[in-house]
Amino acid sequence: MEDELLRLRREALAGFAAASDLSTLEDCRVRYLGRKGLLSTAMRGLGQASEADRPRLGKLANEVKVELEAALDGRRAELGSQETGRRSQAVPPLDLTLPGRAIPFGRPHPVSQVMAEICGIFERLGFAVAEGPDVELDFYNFEGLNIPPHHPARDMHDTFYVSDGVLLRTHTSPMQVRAMQRQSPPLRMIAPGKVYRCDSDLTHTPMFHQVEGFLVDRQVSFADLKGVLSLFIAQVFSPQTAIRFRPSFFPFTEPSAEVDIACVICGGKGCRVCKQTGWLEILGAGLIDPAVFEKVGYDPELYSGFAFGLGVERITMLKYGITDIRLFYENDLRFLRQF
Ligand code: DAH
Repeated sequence: MEDELLRLRREALAGFAAASDLSTLEDCRVRYLGRKGLLSTAMRGLGQASEADRPRLGKLANEVKVELEAALDGRRAELGSQETGRRSQAVPPLDLTLPGRAIPFGRPHPVSQVMAEICGIFERLGFAVAEGPDVELDFYNFEGLNIPPHHPARDMHDTFYVSDGVLLRTHTSPMQVRAMQRQSPPLRMIAPGKVYRCDSDLTHTPMFHQVEGFLVDRQVSFADLKGVLSLFIAQVFSPQTAIRFRPSFFPFTEPSAEVDIACVICGGKGCRVCKQTGWLEILGAGLIDPAVFEKVGYDPELYSGFAFGLGVERITMLKYGITDIRLFYENDLRFLRQF
């Protein structure tokens, strides 16, 4: 019996020392110190020992048990700290001196910036801002603006049709009709937004942005239109920018004009951009045609008004000397970061 206890002690100590990780050590503990382990089994055999030997053997068995438990605890602590060490080596150490990861800042698109600038100028003049649908009815895009079916002016618009009588608006002018239908004069409004035309080259994209503006009241004259647009051009370009009003035609205005500014590239001397004319067209305008008032039930004898429509990409190109409109829609950061 004594020999057996000493043999178990030797084997168990060797087993603990040899265990190379915590789970092997645990197997070893169960084998020797577990409730049904070898030591417990041996201790149960004490009953068969002679009465004279029993106290001595009992004492020895207890000493072996205490010694093995202490050895087990020691080995467990050793293996435990080794494993923590290994795990912390797997995670790279935190280096607080490394530079932070840069989070790149975005910014508004150049067209959005100029759009906001344009709207700001008119808002300061007391114009309200209204947005309308991109998918529009033929009535608002054409008919209500005095462009009946088969009118030659429809050819200028390269319209995308959605279905019979439904289309992608070709200009923001339909908002004139919508606003006038909804409320009675006086009216002072701008309508910014996307417009669509089946057209694509250096100066045209199938989608672009316009701002429509209109004012209706008693005794509105061409001089009012000229005053508002002159102030607008002085603010978007510069107070020194020369302007001219050139007679033109639009079915929804009478009289109509196109407004030119002195070429921003050559200053009016004549160059490739202004096709040697010294002038650049920037918007269309006029006094609202009485036929449009009649469509919305305004009395043309009582009211008059002016309207204008401008292209935001075009103004942005002239402001910054950009010669290809498609740059706006290629999302090249080298281009966009310059604004
Ligand atoms: N809607 C015209 C276009 O897209 C621009 C325009 C011209 C708007 C004259 C107006 C206007 O309000 O009076 O070409």
